[in-house]
Amino acid sequence: MKALKFAVLAGDGIGPEVMEVTLEILEQVLGKAGYAMDAEAAPVGGAAIDQVGKALPEATIRVCEAADAILFGSVGGPKWESLPPAEQPERASLLPLRKHFQLFANIRPGLLYPELVAASPLKTERIPEGIDMVCIRELTGGIYFGQPKERRELPDGDVEALDTMVYKKSEIERIAEVAAQTALVRGKRVCSVDKANVLTTSVLWREVVTAFFKEKYPQIGLSHMYVDNAAMQLARNPNQFDVLLTENMFGDILSDEMGIVCGSLGMLCSASLGLGNNSLGNPFGLYEPAGGTAPDIAGQGIANPCAQILSAAMMLRFSFGLDDLATRIEAAVRETVQSGVRTGDIAFGLEPVNTRAMADAIINRLKSKG
Ligand code: IPM
Ligand code: MG
Repeated sequence: MKALKFAVLAGDGIGPEVMEVTLEILEQVLGKAGYAMDAEAAPVGGAAIDQVGKALPEATIRVCEAADAILFGSVGGPKWESLPPAEQPERASLLPLRKHFQLFANIRPGLLYPELVAASPLKTERIPEGIDMVCIRELTGGIYFGQPKERRELPDGDVEALDTMVYKKSEIERIAEVAAQTALVRGKRVCSVDKANVLTTSVLWREVVTAFFKEKYPQIGLSHMYVDNAAMQLARNPNQFDVLLTENMFGDILSDEMGIVCGSLGMLCSASLGLGNNSLGNPFGLYEPAGGTAPDIAGQGIANPCAQILSAAMMLRFSFGLDDLATRIEAAVRETVQSGVRTGDIAFGLEPVNTRAMADAIINRLKSKG
């Protein structure tokens, strides 16, 4: 592999700020290991609406298609909130990207370092060693994309709207496989979350997941939980979970809850892996921080860059097969946080540093290591 080819979609708000330093960090790590970087930037989200009138321009899709992965910043902001919902940056760029590239597997690590337990709204005694879990969310099926999806006027003048929750056995099996692979290199436990006491899709989900693990992964401890209970358990004792496996909408909700339980959104990264392999034979994927555009601090250069940097590490691991370099970045981030060099969201009484200084500290650690 000569150059790593990926698309850079920085987007809005703090996206471009944290992306800039993340690219420097990638350059540092890759350069040292003898790799070049072929990173092509393209507009997305509100920035793209402003430039070309569309949140996901055709040209941006083409840049992504020509790449082996997408490094995504964040999209949206107050400026575009008055647009019709379907044209707003989040819905009009992220959802079509997921659909276009069949990014069916959303991997969201819930990692809270022991030294940051104060960042969690949970009492420290509930999570003395921090948190280490992963949410595996199905991302291209269920009620987000099921058809029909429409709004109609009824003969009596009333109005109704309709979304369809639908899952195929094959869709459930392929996301179960991702959960199994994730669990195998962790605690070997999967908790599958559904609403099988009410929903037909969930009855199928539970049946398929049960049969799948029994046949293919008997060594993994599988449990099931209703989604309402899972929401409660996440707030009560998150460390009972190793890998959470769930469908699209439940995963949307639970992963946000997991995010806040793990403290600062500024630390949460994610990967959305596609069906097809990239030109290297690895999964194509979109890698993005979970925290959003943070319009309140955008433009000030004080955002926490860690979620974006850790998302880039996931990109190296999954789409480029460079596990050792990913681990190196993750270690440098962790050591930097441990050393007390921290942005405001995770400073807790320490003197906060800005985005630039935090990134420099991470780069220096990477430079000083073999
Ligand atoms: C997420 C987001 C998206 C979702 C929105 C922005 C469409 O909340 O990635 O979790 O609902 O999936
Ligand atoms: Mg969400």
